[in-house]
Amino acid sequence: MNILILGSGGREHTFAYKIAESAHCDSLFVAPGNAGTAQIATNVAISVTDFEAIKALVIKETIEMVVVGPEDPLVQGIYDFFKADEALQDVAVIGPSKEGATLEGSKERAKEFMMAHGIPTAAYQSFIPETLAEGQAFLETLQPPYVLKADGLAAGKGVLIIQDIEEAKSELAQMLGGKFGDASTTVVIEEFLDGIELSVFVLTDGKEYKVLPTAKDYKRIGEGDTGLNTGGMGAVSPVPFVDEAFMQKIETQVVKPTINGLAKENIEYKGFVFIGLIKVGDEPKVIEYNVRMGDPETEVVLPRIQSDLVELFQAVSQGKLAEQTLQIDERSATTIMLVSGGYPEAYEKGKVITGIERVEDSIVFHAGTTHKDEAIVTNGGRVIAITSFDTNFREAIKKSYQNIEKLHFDRMYYRTDIGFDL
Ligand code: AMP
Ligand code: GLY
Repeated sequence: MNILILGSGGREHTFAYKIAESAHCDSLFVAPGNAGTAQIATNVAISVTDFEAIKALVIKETIEMVVVGPEDPLVQGIYDFFKADEALQDVAVIGPSKEGATLEGSKERAKEFMMAHGIPTAAYQSFIPETLAEGQAFLETLQPPYVLKADGLAAGKGVLIIQDIEEAKSELAQMLGGKFGDASTTVVIEEFLDGIELSVFVLTDGKEYKVLPTAKDYKRIGEGDTGLNTGGMGAVSPVPFVDEAFMQKIETQVVKPTINGLAKENIEYKGFVFIGLIKVGDEPKVIEYNVRMGDPETEVVLPRIQSDLVELFQAVSQGKLAEQTLQIDERSATTIMLVSGGYPEAYEKGKVITGIERVEDSIVFHAGTTHKDEAIVTNGGRVIAITSFDTNFREAIKKSYQNIEKLHFDRMYYRTDIGFDL
């Protein structure tokens, strides 16, 4: 079948890499894609939220499956757009319905869902501009640090963790006053959870599910987890501190009630659930849901899946996931992200990248890259992810770092301590 992947990052290059391997894939398209996807698929210069242009492409190229990478098109209802259109309704869309996507699109909605289905999470209350005073009074009842979350999508910047009570009260006022536009006209204030973070990924057809490998990403720009938040600077899978007993707890207390909750609420959901967790003592607590795969977590999770990804997706789309088995590579996978100097603040694009062809025994996943004449040049903050395997995750990390030595672009930056805390 002909398949379209929506998105342009390392996550989408990884999807393309896995899907291109499948015997079920005839022609593969990526919109808009990057220089990496261009090597294995046809890039089409269409925005991921231009549904009419996507429709025209799907019809023209007789595409039978659309795999949605980022959250924006999902939150805007691309699944429902396809199902409501006579010409598109038979196309398999891998991603939840608009209603399912509210689990990521609204933090308040996600908290209500967790409460309704008995899923462990931090205690919280939510506030709107009219209840600012109550919100500030609520902060007074909590211990620092204070966790303030913009309800809507804020490009990963909507969560603030603040030590000082006066600053927290003032931030709350600014957020409700429109600091993040419409995204922060509702603010969730929640209990601070002290523990180690990890992510669990689930593929579901809305009734059955498969738990995919766990991963941990490194969100901060600086060594030792310091500095500004980024999309992610590296990742490791599996997470070494997750043993079978803890995984069992996650499945029973979090994964099952989440999937059952979707089914009980009659929510169409044929895609990924990315569950952000904090391990508090020995207990898993959910900090967030995302309705897509993570980036750079995808760059370590998908390469470990040995089963045919297209077969899994077909089963998801047909509601037959129960019939599938999941084969996982037991080795660890690690990825290190190379970023543009200045990222996550202002950075320059268009820097020539050299050395990719010299990489050995690691996989180069392109993120923000494009072609300029004959060269591959930088085209974003996160530029390239270098994924490596080994039975020992420290050896895998070493391989990635050895290969990074061969790569160059002006003001290239990466963290040298991925996995330091494991
Ligand atoms: P989120 O966008 O919800 O993933 O939050 C961004 C980051 O804030 C998370 O990755 C955590 O590091 C942190 N965070 C969110 N909620 C909490 C919480 N209740 N307690 C402690 N840290 C949190
Ligand atoms: N790496 C975190 C995310 O994709 O949201």
